[in-house]
Amino acid sequence: MDIEKEVTENLIVKTNDLTKAWDEIVAVDHVNFEIREGEIFGMLGPNGAGKTTTIKLLCTLLTPTGGTAYVAGHDIRRDPEKVRRAIGYVPQDITVDGRLTAKENLELQAALYGIKGKDRDDRIERMLKLVQLNQRADGLVEMFSGGMRRRLEIARGLLVEPQLLLLDEPSVGLDPVSRKSIWDHVSKLKRKYKNKFAILMSTHYMEEADRLCDRIAIIDRGQIVALDTPTNLKKAIGGQIIEIDVENGKTKRTMKKLQENDGSKFMEKVSELSTTTVAIEVKDLESAVPKVFKIASENNIDIKQVRMRSPTLEDVFIHHTGKSLRDEDETDPIGFIRGQFAKRMRSV
Ligand SMILES: Nc1ncnc2c1ncn2[C@@H]1O[C@H](COP(=O)(O)OP(=O)(O)O)[C@@H](O)[C@H]1O
Ligand SMILES: [Mg+2]
Repeated sequence: MDIEKEVTENLIVKTNDLTKAWDEIVAVDHVNFEIREGEIFGMLGPNGAGKTTTIKLLCTLLTPTGGTAYVAGHDIRRDPEKVRRAIGYVPQDITVDGRLTAKENLELQAALYGIKGKDRDDRIERMLKLVQLNQRADGLVEMFSGGMRRRLEIARGLLVEPQLLLLDEPSVGLDPVSRKSIWDHVSKLKRKYKNKFAILMSTHYMEEADRLCDRIAIIDRGQIVALDTPTNLKKAIGGQIIEIDVENGKTKRTMKKLQENDGSKFMEKVSELSTTTVAIEVKDLESAVPKVFKIASENNIDIKQVRMRSPTLEDVFIHHTGKSLRDEDETDPIGFIRGQFAKRMRSV
């Protein structure tokens, strides 16, 4: 089969056992996925999962130590120059220059890519409008908010009219309002460009992945542990979640008692969401709830609250990796402290 032909016809990205290792750290470990035209493809995983490394490999900023990938039909190993012409890259850390205006930042990018004259001016105007910064074209970027800088970076990534836009954690460190605005802009891009264009984004926010992505690869320790649409990922783990709140510090004991008392017969999985909350994944909610209460009362476990809900991507992540995505969320200080604490408790 002519792989390059197949790629150019309907796939924007195809990886082939893509691998990157530094000594004993395997950051990206035989990763295989495809991104189709018109798709927003997400990589969801905690810090250190290998998301940035994957993106840098596809951008040709890093070279694989094994396998390869095709971007817009070009092999990242053999044709890095052609790959670079086909992509727009928005890195995790903001890199627009604060001492320049919004327009000057885009002019600099245009110069780097040899985009000149009227074509350059048209593109810059269109892109600034697209991210709603046209009114601030001559404003110094150092006066911009985090959300505005991010939008300017997206405009810069799009200036080259790429087939693949790579967004590394597009809303990390932003306040909720700016985050929402970035989400709206990313959705708008998808509607606007549709054909011969795709977006690859990484995130460790499950809500972001759920809202924006057509398909998601869940990544942990350099490997894809699950890949599908958000709906199918949630459906595949099946059943429902029962969350019970118990006395602070009693979650471990609760999990142990559930497991010892026939829990394995009706529980698919049991995990700790915080020092007060246990999540129980079950296939049959109606019959499981009374059993949970019975085991609790027989073991003097005081259930303070019970909630029943459908699985989220967080549950999907726990299902596949045995740990919580939230553990690593440093932008949510309470969640982070809770996660660190829970981790320490688990290792005791
Ligand atoms: N230049 C490097 N040298 C050695 N190890 C690295 C380097 N860059 C990243 N890593 C390691 O590779 C793993 C994946 O990192 P990264 O791709 O940045 O994860 P993510 O973006 O998902 O947070 C981590 O263990 C990280 O420490
Ligand atoms: Mg990263």
